[in-house]
Amino acid sequence: MFLPEAAAAALVPGRLAGKTAIITGAGSGLGRATAERYVAEGARVLVADIDGSRAAAVCERLGDAAVPTQVDVSDETAVAAMVQAALDAFGAVNVLFSNAGVAESVKPLAEISSLEWDRIIDINLKAFFLCAQAVAPQMRAADGGAMIVTASIAARRPRPGMAAYVASKAGVIGLARALAVELAGDGIRVNVLNPGPAQTPMLKEFSFAASEAEALRMLGEALPLGRAIQPADIAAAAVYLASDEACNVTGLVMNIDGGRDL
Ligand SMILES: NC(=O)c1ccc[n+]([C@@H]2O[C@H](COP(=O)([O-])OP(=O)(O)OC[C@H]3O[C@@H](n4cnc5c(N)ncnc54)[C@H](O)[C@@H]3O)[C@@H](O)[C@H]2O)c1
Repeated sequence: MFLPEAAAAALVPGRLAGKTAIITGAGSGLGRATAERYVAEGARVLVADIDGSRAAAVCERLGDAAVPTQVDVSDETAVAAMVQAALDAFGAVNVLFSNAGVAESVKPLAEISSLEWDRIIDINLKAFFLCAQAVAPQMRAADGGAMIVTASIAARRPRPGMAAYVASKAGVIGLARALAVELAGDGIRVNVLNPGPAQTPMLKEFSFAASEAEALRMLGEALPLGRAIQPADIAAAAVYLASDEACNVTGLVMNIDGGRDL
């Protein structure tokens, strides 16, 4: 089969060789799986999480290519310190995977307090604004970069009782598309991953089922492809979007959802 030289080169292992990345929420679930894949693909990764001991545990398994940092992504000063930690460790930031997020306990509109609303919006939406604002100058200085943000298929297929969460994730998609247009001239690509229900610790917070096994069975029945999303599914997409293979891809909202959006 004919492959242009650049595409053929991109198919060998090490698709992120030479790149440096910040991954938020990398102490667990989708972020942890992506940190593991990024290192396996040759990247150096700042493993950032509000739970510093989880971030450290992830890095213990990954060796010198991974450096842990504790951060609350909704805190502007802490985000600036996180970016500085990446610069101190690696000298540059080529990739931002803004992935940290929190679930909302399922409840009707009338029961959502404005404090809860603010918390969900701050961690799930404002944090991406803060992270993007902090890394954009570094990416510009390096003649480009890739930002990836985790939204959710819930932004397109809402379930009742998740108004703040759905609003936060819909906001993430709008912000990412706005930044994709604004930063394209700087060679900065901005793309969105929309996971369907994924088998991580967060899943139980969304679920109405009595057990994880029951939740997985119900989810499997609700998804055309018949199985809950795995962290590795998200990591694979995040590798592609960070890699030079996606050099002409920006503003994409990629569903990894087992067909939930159909
Ligand atoms: N699991 C799902 O079904 C699902 C579906 C769609 C989208 N998502 C989104 O995927 C992302 C990752 O979720 P996950 O399923 O891996 O959940 P998870 O709970 O396994 O991991 C989330 C991580 O984010 C960290 N975190 C929380 N608040 C933080 C903060 N303020 N600052 C820094 N880190 C913080 C947590 O400590 C945790 O390690 C989230 O944005 C979530 O909304 C998850």
